[in-house]
Amino acid sequence: MLIDPELALDSDPYRSFATWYAAAESADPRPDAVALATADAGGPPSLRIVLFRGVQGGGFRFFTNYVSRKGRQLATNPYAALLFYWQPLGRQVRLEGRVEPLAPPESDAYFATRDRESQLSAWASRQSEPIASREVLMAKVEALRERFAGGDVPRPEFWGGYCLLPSQFEFWHHRENRLHDRFRYTLGAEGWLVNRLSP
Ligand SMILES: Cc1cc2nc3c(=O)[nH]c(=O)nc-3n(C[C@H](O)[C@H](O)[C@H](O)COP(=O)(O)O)c2cc1C
Repeated sequence: MLIDPELALDSDPYRSFATWYAAAESADPRPDAVALATADAGGPPSLRIVLFRGVQGGGFRFFTNYVSRKGRQLATNPYAALLFYWQPLGRQVRLEGRVEPLAPPESDAYFATRDRESQLSAWASRQSEPIASREVLMAKVEALRERFAGGDVPRPEFWGGYCLLPSQFEFWHHRENRLHDRFRYTLGAEGWLVNRLSP
């Protein structure tokens, strides 16, 4: 059921997201770049861009190094926020919820779709750890290229996917004079509750 026909917002936030994402794919050169906020157990938040890799089983998927800063934070505090901003459309979508690692076969399947150089760089990078120089990194890549020569590159155990299962969505649409439209969807016992918010 449409709750706002002009913005094509549905009572189901996943349907709303699918419609808005399709529009972003036509208008934005990088619709899949999404800001991911995580935090330590009681600490301040940290933020970085990752690539959104689709919705599966209600979860918004992204892939990374499990022992990176974000990976360590998610291991101790499995709650996060995602923020899409599609400048050509004047839209943002905010999501908040619990994050779970993907099942290993799902991460294997995604890893297998990456090009070989990206597979090698996943192995080579101890993401978020200090490294002496770019040369050290490139030497690691070359050593890995030899190690895996003549065969497939398997997924490293320390690299894989997560999915964020939203308990809240917000759809924001730019309007003149800062009188923007905002719709918040909150997951309750009865399903999704929708509220229009003040800009
Ligand atoms: C456009 C763009 C896409 C990116 N995509 C990813 C990604 O999908 N996964 C990832 O781990 N890092 C990605 N990064 C790098 C992250 O922003 C970040 O530097 C890295 O994950 C380390 O973050 P952390 O130290 O907070 O764990 C991307 C950066 C940009 C600018």
